[in-house]
Order: sequence, then C-alpha cells, then structure tokens
Amino acid sequence: MTFTAQILTLYPEMFPGPLGTSLAGRAREEGKWALNTVNPRDFTTDKHRSVDDTPAGGGAGMVLRADVMATAVDFASGKQPNAPILAMTPRGKPLTQARIRDISSGPGVTIICGRFEGFDERLFEGRNIEQVSIGDYVLSGGEMGALVLLDACIRLFPGVMGATASGDDESFEHGILEYPQYTRPQIWEGRIIPEVLRSGDHAKIAAWRKQRAEEDTRLRRPDLWERRRDASDQSPSGAQGKDKDKE
Ligand code: ADE
Repeated sequence: MTFTAQILTLYPEMFPGPLGTSLAGRAREEGKWALNTVNPRDFTTDKHRSVDDTPAGGGAGMVLRADVMATAVDFASGKQPNAPILAMTPRGKPLTQARIRDISSGPGVTIICGRFEGFDERLFEGRNIEQVSIGDYVLSGGEMGALVLLDACIRLFPGVMGATASGDDESFEHGILEYPQYTRPQIWEGRIIPEVLRSGDHAKIAAWRKQRAEEDTRLRRPDLWERRRDASDQSPSGAQGKDKDKE
C-alpha cells in the first residue's frame, strides 16, 4: 500500500514544491508515496466562496470557518479513514522524531494547513484532529509545516535513504543529538580530524562518539538532556541509577 498524503490547503500550488525533487521526488516517482491536495474553497456554499470570517470577540485577522473546514476534512479523511488527521498550528503539540516514525509507518496522513489567525476551535471539538507545531515561531501558514513533516516521514520509507537506511544513529533517535562528523581533507585551515577517528579502533570510536553526543546535547539542548534523565529515572534500571546517584 502506498503512503498517501492528503493536504488541505488554500494554496495547492505550493505542493509538492521541494518534495518534487531529490529523495522525496524520486520516491514519489517510484510510487513510494502519493500526494493529493484538497482545496477547502471547493467546499464553500456562498457566492463569495469564503473560507474565513472575522474573529468572534474582535481582534485582528481572519479565522478559518469550522463548517467549511469540517466538510473538506470529512471529504479528505473519508478517502483514508485509518490515516491520522493533523492540523498545522503554532498552538499544536511540538512534532517529534518518534511521532514522525509512527506516522511514516502508517497508511498515510491528512494534513490541514492553517492560514490567517487560525481555526475556529470548534473544528477540533467536532473532529478527531491532532494539532501539531513544527517549532516555537509563527509561519504565515501551515503549508511549510506540512512540507517539513512530510519530508521527515518520506526519508524513513524503506529504500528511500539508501545506505543510511535506518537512520538509527542520527539526532533525536535516542533522544539526544548526533555526534559531530568529519571528512577529508585530514587537515583543513590547520584543523585536524580528531585522532581517535583515524585510529581504526572501532570500540574507541564508538565511545568517543557517545561521549561527544552526550556532551553536545547537555550543552546545546539542556531540555533534551533533562528529559532523557527523567525518562531513565523512571525506568526500572534508571530508578536504581538515581538511587546510586543520591548515595
Ligand atoms: N502555522 C503557523 N506557524 C506554525 C508552526 N510553528 N507550526 C505549524 N504550523 C504553523
């Protein structure tokens, strides 16, 4: 079965965009994933074809109507009822590599792209929709977020990444950042590749990489580092570790 991405967007011309080239583009040509866009404007009933209206209670901008969006969502999700429905919004839960892995191993995804000031909240009360954010900044619409999410999923499909197939070693897969990488030339502007990486001693190399991954995570991403500590504190072996720390 082909993973199918259905995108609800007022700007269908933004797709596949960058996903039409490189790994994702090739994977699409090979039938590893398929793309459908659905324009909510096609589900309007008034003569102006309006998808949005002014915010209740006043304020700037426009809000996407629950009735129009729900009709478009029902149409799209009816085509793949077992795929999760996501809405891109800065109010959503931050996307993680674990969630990406989960989505990429499923039948597909329906993604609703917001524009303007956001969605009428009743859409989320009336439908089973997961609100997701790609980071703590505000985009002009959800389309870029949808592209980011899809790119992260597509590279995990079997056979898309070639030699690095599983991606097991990379940043976030173990809740921490990846270790730093080096390649030839051996000396560049007087900087030399760390000796251990040239040693051929695989055990030493693995130990060095683990240590650097942990150190960089602790310094650059204290949030990830804390979360990892908390997670290991809660596991049976981690609980022992914590007791030991206290002694
Ligand atoms: N739409 C606007 N900002 C967004 C964000 N940070 N994540 C997902 N969708 C968005």
